[in-house]
Amino acid sequence: MTDRSDAFVFFGATGDLAFKQIFPALQALAKKGRLDMPIVAVGRKEMPIEKLRERVKESLEKSGSFDAPTFEKVSKQLKYAAVDYDDPASFKRISEAIGGAKHPVHYVALPPEIFEKVAANAKAQGLADGARLVVEKPFGHDLASAKALSEALLKSFPEESLFRIDHYLGKETVENIVYFRASNTIFESSLCAEGVESVQITMAETFGVKGRAKFYDSVGAIRDVVQNHMLEVVACLAMELPKSMKNDGLRDARSKLLSEVRALTPADVVRGQVKGYTDEDGVDKGSKTETFAALRFHIDNPRWKGVPFFVRVGKALPVTISEALVRFKGPECPVLDDKSTAPANALRLRLGPSPVIALGANVKKNGEEFVGERRELILTRSDPAEMKAYERLLGDAIDGKAELYARQDAIEEAWRVIDPITGDATPVHSYEEKTWGPDEAQKLAPPGGWGDPV
Ligand code: BG6
Repeated sequence: MTDRSDAFVFFGATGDLAFKQIFPALQALAKKGRLDMPIVAVGRKEMPIEKLRERVKESLEKSGSFDAPTFEKVSKQLKYAAVDYDDPASFKRISEAIGGAKHPVHYVALPPEIFEKVAANAKAQGLADGARLVVEKPFGHDLASAKALSEALLKSFPEESLFRIDHYLGKETVENIVYFRASNTIFESSLCAEGVESVQITMAETFGVKGRAKFYDSVGAIRDVVQNHMLEVVACLAMELPKSMKNDGLRDARSKLLSEVRALTPADVVRGQVKGYTDEDGVDKGSKTETFAALRFHIDNPRWKGVPFFVRVGKALPVTISEALVRFKGPECPVLDDKSTAPANALRLRLGPSPVIALGANVKKNGEEFVGERRELILTRSDPAEMKAYERLLGDAIDGKAELYARQDAIEEAWRVIDPITGDATPVHSYEEKTWGPDEAQKLAPPGGWGDPV
């Protein structure tokens, strides 16, 4: 199906993600004239359209993106349909709201257990023919449920109409990893076992789980962001570069790399839980869910033989920063007086909030000794007009472009890697708010330690 979508149906429009990310993304698309179609927000409860408009306005104002003329336009396109996900007949309200649209895109930002009902009921109501289905992550809870979910969705939507979101793949900075590698031979030729000592990726967030504690408690940090975002970043950093960015070249390359990542064992994982987490509303008092995880991955292919990839993610940490740090092998030249202490080159790729690409290099210190000091060559590019991930991805789904969506084989490979260490396969250690997780995480640190972003 190549037609452009002609209606945007939004399941989960009253949720947290809608408020923080999706309404601003829809306004951005509308501003560029890419959303001239009915926008149908779907929720369980009846809601007057005025209330929905107010919520959209509040979301845009909070995100600092409110644009009065576009908001006026979007307000007119906006409709609301209350449905009962267990009642196929209630989906008739969506059919009425989209009018004569033939190719709706259904975007489902709901817990994964509801995806199947939405897909089946949409089909029963004639809303699947010629349509697209975009589902949020996490896709399943483990390998078996991810496979079952995919099979269930495929009963209502064919593969080419099914879009599995991982919003990290829609980030400009994540795409830039691929561009940076492809266009800078000087780095690309060193990204291999001969050149690299270790790679570490940190996804740190200062905030906790407020507003979504119940959902988070059933998922935890590893399922929430490692199985998807972090492993896709590993794939973008470590894959063989595709011959083409089109026709699934990129998706093939990421999937192949993920198929080469070794399944984790408990020795590769440290889990942490921030103090006070079990006091949050919605969290089970005896919860062992992790809000922090440090993990060590190995990639079983010749390019990365023996190079450990570390990932560290967590809530209530000292900063909000996502960053990859590639540490190259140390200098071996015997002429250096500081050859045992001279730091190795390092490449720092900050994915957010403001993108930075920096190369750690050594220069000689003034003086008679042949010793150096560390400097960073810093390349920054903060562009307020940068397209945000959800604008990119939802715009792509409307146009039927799937390159930046996660594919089922990659999702399954990621679950294969993660499955052996989920649940209580490892203990959970407590840590203080605003620290870099439990002390135990230091025992799993890369050579040279964790490079805490500041
Ligand atoms: C979401 C996770 O997928 O990504 C959240 O569910 C996390 O827990 C969020 O906070 C982070 O996204 P970003 O784009 O702000 O790094």
